[in-house]
Amino acid sequence: MTHNDIERTTAGGPPRLAEKEFQVFQKYIEGQIGIKMPPAKRVMLESRLLKRLRVLGIGSFGEYLEIVFDPASAQTELVHMIDAVTTNKTDFFRENEHFRYLSSILLPERLRIDEWGRDNMLKVWSCASSSGEEVYSLAMTLEEFARNNSPYTYRILGTDISTRMLERCRAAVYPAERIEPVPESLRKRYLLRSKDRTAGLVKIRPELRSRVQFHRVNLMDGDFGIRDTFQIIFCRNVIIYFDRERQVQLMHKLHAQLAPGGYLFLGHSETLAGMDVPFRTVAPTVYRKE
Ligand SMILES: C[S@@+](CC[C@H](N)C(=O)[O-])C[C@H]1O[C@@H](n2cnc3c(N)ncnc32)[C@H](O)[C@@H]1O
Repeated sequence: MTHNDIERTTAGGPPRLAEKEFQVFQKYIEGQIGIKMPPAKRVMLESRLLKRLRVLGIGSFGEYLEIVFDPASAQTELVHMIDAVTTNKTDFFRENEHFRYLSSILLPERLRIDEWGRDNMLKVWSCASSSGEEVYSLAMTLEEFARNNSPYTYRILGTDISTRMLERCRAAVYPAERIEPVPESLRKRYLLRSKDRTAGLVKIRPELRSRVQFHRVNLMDGDFGIRDTFQIIFCRNVIIYFDRERQVQLMHKLHAQLAPGGYLFLGHSETLAGMDVPFRTVAPTVYRKE
């Protein structure tokens, strides 16, 4: 059966997502983005995609599937579908123990500047950067360490599958209430208030922005197209959405992108336990490449 054979389900009221249609979306989303779509997520998928149907002015999920599978619109629509099915929740200094570990253990004791290659450049990758808070929290942490210790250079690559999130990363503008977790001293040094105080926005200072770059990367791709290797990879709060097999495949690919002895950070509810991957645990949810 193809998506064209699926019966239309609209009979007055909002369009409903039929079981067979759900199964087509399920297979497509898991295949393209790696995100698990168990039956419990059907209602969530229906309500989120309904918004997209309204924007497009179409009246059934069957029609929407035709757009999704039409080669002329598939890529554009995939971007919208990703936004509909992924969770972009993030914060500045989220799971702050990781940033503390970085500045109190990794940077002073474990990472050796003379092992960072000829340019003495520390390279860090945040591979599910969402709207950028994680990347800029890393930049503040690395910049602070450089200010207070022997200077070094660093670069941070932020990637995400969502082009909408990457636009926000590049804009580097956040509502003032988002910066609550940022310590006062860092706010003064690295954030700019908008001239119009009533707008309630802050922008990351250019000195930090010049250290970061953003690209779109789908973690499900066989080859990320990234030639660099990194001393540190943050891959936090994204593998929970993938099934076990895809998690293991991804961990092998991240292993290959790490420099010898490099460090991998996962989210606090994520683990490598029980996975046959060459990493050693050095702190809770922090792993070193073997
Ligand atoms: C919950 S956010 C995590 C943000 C940040 N790492 C943190 O811990 O706060 C998950 C992010 O993963 C991204 N994502 C989901 N599937 C992805 C994939 N296959 N490739 C790349 N990014 C993906 C989503 O777009 C979303 O921005």
